[in-house]
Amino acid sequence: MKDARSKRLVLSLVSIGAILAIGLSFAARKSAATVTFTKDVAPILYAKCATCHQPGEMAPMSLLTFKEVRPWAKSIRERVVSREMPPWFADPNHGEFINDTRLTQQQIDTVRAWVDGGAKEGDPKDLPPMPKVANTGWKFGEPDVVLSMTEEASVPADGSVPYRYYIVYTNFTEDKYVRFAQIKRGEPSVVHHVIVSVREPDQGPLPPEGEFRAGQQRVNPESPDAERQRQQRRGNNPDGMLLGWAPGMSPLTLRSGNVKLIKKGSALIFQMHYTTNGKPAKDRTGIGLWFAKEPVEKRVITRGISTDARKLVIPPGDPNFESRSSLTFNEDVHLQMFMPHMHVRGKDFEYKLVYPDGKEKILLRVPKYDFNWQLSYFLKEPIAIPKGSRIDCLAHHDNSANNKYNPDPTKEVRWGDQTWEEMMIGWIDYTIDSQNLRTQTQTANNK
Ligand code: HEC
Repeated sequence: MKDARSKRLVLSLVSIGAILAIGLSFAARKSAATVTFTKDVAPILYAKCATCHQPGEMAPMSLLTFKEVRPWAKSIRERVVSREMPPWFADPNHGEFINDTRLTQQQIDTVRAWVDGGAKEGDPKDLPPMPKVANTGWKFGEPDVVLSMTEEASVPADGSVPYRYYIVYTNFTEDKYVRFAQIKRGEPSVVHHVIVSVREPDQGPLPPEGEFRAGQQRVNPESPDAERQRQQRRGNNPDGMLLGWAPGMSPLTLRSGNVKLIKKGSALIFQMHYTTNGKPAKDRTGIGLWFAKEPVEKRVITRGISTDARKLVIPPGDPNFESRSSLTFNEDVHLQMFMPHMHVRGKDFEYKLVYPDGKEKILLRVPKYDFNWQLSYFLKEPIAIPKGSRIDCLAHHDNSANNKYNPDPTKEVRWGDQTWEEMMIGWIDYTIDSQNLRTQTQTANNK
C-alpha cells in the first residue's frame, strides 16, 4: 500500500515534469520562432555593439543592417554567450561605469534564441532608428577643429616600425576648453596606437620629432632624472595627456562643465605606433576637437600612477611579477576615470583607495588584463577623494610560457615603449573640488 502510493507519487511527479518540459520547450520554441532581428536583436546590437561595429570603426565588420548581421549570426552567438563580446574586463563587484557594455543575461538569451530560431529578419517596420553614426566617423557631429599630421607617414610593407613623433601646431590664439575629442586614423589598417599630448608654449623647446627605437628612447629609465624627463615628455602639465587611440579606447567625453585646457600657442605631439601588414601604406591621422559651449567649471586632470621604472625588471619565466604604485592627494578631488596600462605580459590590475583613516575600498579590479583592449573605465558617479587619501595600484605581469601573448619567456623584461618591453601605469582622470573656473574667469574679467 505504502509502496503503491509512493509509486503513484513518482508517476505524478514524472507527469508533472513531462508537462512542464513540454510546456517549456513549447515556450522556448515559440519564443525562438518569434525572436526577430528587427524587433529584438537590433536594439541590443545598436546599444551595445554599434560603437565599434560600424563602417570605419575598429571592429572588422559593421553590424547595423540585417544584411550585414545575418552572415555573422553563428559567430555572434558564440562571442555573446562566452561573453567575449562586448569586450569588458572589470570585476562587476567593484564600481559602476558609464561605458559598461556588458549584456544582461536576458539579452544574451535573446541573441541565442534568435540564432537558434534561424536568425529571422522579422518585420522591417519593427526596426528601431539606426544609432547616430557616423557617415563621417565623427561621434559628436562636425568638430570645431580638426588637427592632422602635416605630412603623410609612409609605412613600409613589412618589418617593425619604431615609434614616430609628429608635432602639430594648434595655432590657437586664445586658450581653448575642450569637452570632446576624437582621434581619426588616416589608414586604420596600419595604426596600432596613437597618443596625442599637449605641449604648452612655456615648457621649453619642443622635443625632437622623428623615429625612436628601443634603446634610443627619449627617456632612459636608468637615468637618475628619468621621472623628470618623462614628466617633461608628457608635457609636464595636467592636460599633457590629451587622448589616445587603441582598440577599445573611447573618445574624450567629458561631463558638462568639465574640460581639458589647451593653452594658446600649444603644440600637439602625436606619438604614432605603426604596424606593417604586407602592403606599403600612407597614413595621416588627425584629432577632432569640440570646444565647451557651456560655462566651464573644472579642468580634468589626467595622471599616470606608475611604478618606478627602474624596479620593473621582470625575470625570465616569472608567472606573477608584482608591481605597486601610489599617489597621495593633498587636496579634495573627484575621480572620473581609470585606465590601467601594461603591455603583452600584463596579467591583472587593481586600484584601491585608502582613506586618511585607513579605511580601504577597491575602486576597480581587472582580474584578467588583456593588452589587446586598452579600455577606459568611466565612473557612473565621480568618487569623492578627501585630502590625504591615497590610491594604491597593484599589478602583476606574466612572463611565463603560459601567457599566450608572451613573445619570449626566456627574456628579462624592462620598462620601455615597445610592446615587448613593459609598463605599469594606472591612469586616472580627476577634478579638483576647490576649482571653479567660472568664478575665476569672472574675477579675472572684473579686474
Ligand atoms: C569596444 C569595441 C567593440 C564592441 C563594443 C563590440 N565589439 Fe565585437 N569586435 C571588436 C573588434 C575590434 C573585433 C575584432 C577582434 C576580435 O575578434 O576580438 C570584434 C570581433 C567580433 C566578432 C568576431 C568577428 C570575427 O572575425 O570572427 C563578433 C562575432 C563580434 N565582435 C560581435 C560583437 C557583438 C555581437 C557585440 C555587441 C554585443 C560586439 N561585438 C561589441 C570590437 C567590439
